[in-house]
Amino acid sequence: MIKEYKNFINGNWVKSDSGKVFTDINPANSDDVIGKFQKSEKKDVIQAIESAKNAFPSYRAIPAPQRGKILLKAARIMESQAKDLSILLTREEGKPVHESEGEVKRAIQIFQFFGSEGWRLNGETIPSENPGMDLLTYREPLGVVALITPWNFPVCIPCWKMAPALVSGNTVVFKPASKTPLTGIRIAEILEEAGLPKGALNLVTGSGDVFGDEITANAAIKAISFTGSNKVGSELYQKAAGRMQKMQLEMGGKNPLIVLEDADIDKAVDYAIQGAFGGTGQKCTATSRVIVVDSICAKFTEKLVKETRKIKVGDGLDPANDMGPLVDQAQMNTVLKYIEAGKQDGAKLLFGGNMLAGPKYDRGYFIEPAVFSEVNPEMRIAREEIFGPVLALIKVGSVAEAVKTANDTAYGLSASVCAKDLTSVFKCIHEIEAGIIHVNSTTTGAEGQVPFGGMKKSSSGSREMGKAAIDFYTQLKTVYLNYN
Ligand code: UN1
Repeated sequence: MIKEYKNFINGNWVKSDSGKVFTDINPANSDDVIGKFQKSEKKDVIQAIESAKNAFPSYRAIPAPQRGKILLKAARIMESQAKDLSILLTREEGKPVHESEGEVKRAIQIFQFFGSEGWRLNGETIPSENPGMDLLTYREPLGVVALITPWNFPVCIPCWKMAPALVSGNTVVFKPASKTPLTGIRIAEILEEAGLPKGALNLVTGSGDVFGDEITANAAIKAISFTGSNKVGSELYQKAAGRMQKMQLEMGGKNPLIVLEDADIDKAVDYAIQGAFGGTGQKCTATSRVIVVDSICAKFTEKLVKETRKIKVGDGLDPANDMGPLVDQAQMNTVLKYIEAGKQDGAKLLFGGNMLAGPKYDRGYFIEPAVFSEVNPEMRIAREEIFGPVLALIKVGSVAEAVKTANDTAYGLSASVCAKDLTSVFKCIHEIEAGIIHVNSTTTGAEGQVPFGGMKKSSSGSREMGKAAIDFYTQLKTVYLNYN
């Protein structure tokens, strides 16, 4: 018997008016059906928005430290459920269970960080040039905010959007990705158990188009935070432009890892592998280009291929496996198409790239990690976001050429440099056009207490997480106070 899950509107778990559901399956094993979920219609989205709108006046009136305590309690509840939530995350999304555990841990920390920010939701006092005048700023919530989150981090991305939104006093309508709805529902249940007032968080599952059309047309929605593809992000931006909603878009990446002459090669290989193949390469922060100086290129490449061969692909629930499946058939087709494109464009496939077949693989979307060498920056595998375990090695002659190549992309999310020489490291820090720079570390990963976001086409410009997230979810009110 497959369980049917409901929408969460005004503190009640309710069915969609459509009477229709969709099914979610485990990408490693199509026999494992996660559940049935509401195929929501416009009417359901409107009800969710109305609920958030009605809840807003009383929710914003709760003192910020009290709102923060709800998040701190949610963190404790999530901690007590961490094991089950990690297993569910692996069943829904496919990533190995150790990666799921890391993601759940991160979500807990995000609730802890933003819960504590309730005590620090302060404005400023600023001296006036006029006697007897005080200048003050207050931070106020925006109202109802809409969140659209992707399937690749279905626990921590919803948390990193809703935690700053809620602690700031906004009420939320949230649509989890249709490939991973149950983790989204678990987060809503945790917040419900933590005592979040009715209507402060509303969740509807179903079509992104139905949700996107309503939130961009509905006057009650004051801000939208979206993580996903550039195509959908720019559609939302255009739809919302007439209403001038505040918009936060986190989209694609084509992230480089630069390996310079004095790099620790073993560690650089390790960072490349984690960055390229962690999450089966399905991260906007994934390493998809490795830019290596020619003096160490042969040594680096040999070691990289040797280590890539060791990666065990299979069901993420088995702790012996290092890399799980792709999320679905469409993603599999895209990745295979790019592997073909790499070959056609003249790159050399050094290892992998084949679909895996056999009893262990036939019910999922498994592929070998792929390493290409002799890639030039014009090739499709060097320019377009693949969102799969495909690594392109590009050889360069100097630090300056490495930086130029790193910047030769429309995207600018994260970048990494492996080196010891400070002059080169700082040249990379200052000259690479990316919102996040890692030095001797992977391009992936994001800690909740620092800003996260990209430059160029990767982002609409605001930042998630850290105190910067509060800037997005609040508006400043300036007070001129004449006490004379
Ligand atoms: C990470 O690298 O751990 O959707 C986080 C994404 C990014 C988050 C990446 N927004 O892949």
